[in-house]
Amino acid sequence: MLNPRLDILGPGPFQRLAALLDGVAPAAGLEPLNMALGEPQRAYPDFVAEIIDANRHLYGRYPPQKASPELRRANLTWLERRYGLAPGRLDPERHVVPVHGTREGLFMMALTVVPPRVRGRKPAVLLPNPFYHCYAGAAISAGADPIFVPAVRETGYLPDFHALDEETLARTALCYLCSPANPQGAIADRGYLERLIGLARERDFVLLVDECYAEIYDREPPPGALEVALVGEDLDGLDNVVVFHSLSKRSSVPGLRSGFAAGDATILDRFFRLRTYGGPFMALPADAAAAALWLDDEHVGPTRDYYRGLFDLAEKHLGGHPGFRRPAGGFFLWLEVGDSEATAVALWHHAAIRSLPGAYLGRVGPAGNPGLNYLRLALVHPSEITDEALGRIAAVL
Ligand SMILES: Cc1ncc(COP(=O)(O)O)c(C=O)c1O
Repeated sequence: MLNPRLDILGPGPFQRLAALLDGVAPAAGLEPLNMALGEPQRAYPDFVAEIIDANRHLYGRYPPQKASPELRRANLTWLERRYGLAPGRLDPERHVVPVHGTREGLFMMALTVVPPRVRGRKPAVLLPNPFYHCYAGAAISAGADPIFVPAVRETGYLPDFHALDEETLARTALCYLCSPANPQGAIADRGYLERLIGLARERDFVLLVDECYAEIYDREPPPGALEVALVGEDLDGLDNVVVFHSLSKRSSVPGLRSGFAAGDATILDRFFRLRTYGGPFMALPADAAAAALWLDDEHVGPTRDYYRGLFDLAEKHLGGHPGFRRPAGGFFLWLEVGDSEATAVALWHHAAIRSLPGAYLGRVGPAGNPGLNYLRLALVHPSEITDEALGRIAAVL
């Protein structure tokens, strides 16, 4: 007997893409390029390799389950610098838990906080639609109903959780928000965050804000849920709120696997308890390199400029396309193209560009699948490569 929940989940977006393009030949004579995967291609700082090398004797030790105190302190001092939080207000023992890439943490947090029943009913987990696929996998694995809330043009590409019906809100255990959003690139402003934190407290659900693109933005730094929640002196401001941050995009080290959860100490205590049974460890040499990266801001501005430059190129090639919109944050182009699967096949066949159909990032709701007519293109490759690739894409579209 196997767990039937996996049948509800079905194959993930990249498995579906592989099946879609299976047997389709890429355009002959062109270098194939993967713009489906959001994998940073920029070089990470040299000190990463130096620190890992200097600490390699530590591979012989079991790492501490909550990572090193140095890493936890580095996580919090980064939050203080990035969001202007009062130094020392957050406690490295209570308000932060390092995770090994935010993906596992976002997933495990659902297993931590979703109870078997909420007010006698099956729990609901709210998530944006379209969405980062981990949220749906987590909701279903935790035994909840995932509630897909449209994040479309009419809602500013952010989900309107307040519009949900009473029955759903009354059984909500957890809500995922992503800002800057993957795939839409929308940023939740302070007012939006304030209202959502208010709803989470009024209805007593946990609000998880995935802020892993917090450092990749076009103009204004995106506000964070903790800075909005922490008004006044009172640490009760953290109630019901947990944020997730990652080095993967900020420091171009998706392979290092460093992120953290910060916020409500009661939730984090339970999260940590679950992790003592089945949580992953981060090798100590990687832990030391991650701490140094969180402490360093020098490499981050040039990284942001790099992505800005890629969006300038996108605007040059696709700015005249009716479906083009320059996102406020993140590094994805969320391009309205009509039939997204047919367009992905055409781009592969005629331009040797791998792109991700938005249909695979959304779920069918009452108004259909909101990703159906969009294509997600990751702008991550160096500018010469991206420039040439965008030219190919424009020619096909
Ligand atoms: C929205 C979002 N959240 C979380 C992640 C996971 O990042 P990591 O596990 O590398 O921290 C990603 C990665 O693609 C993402 O796009």
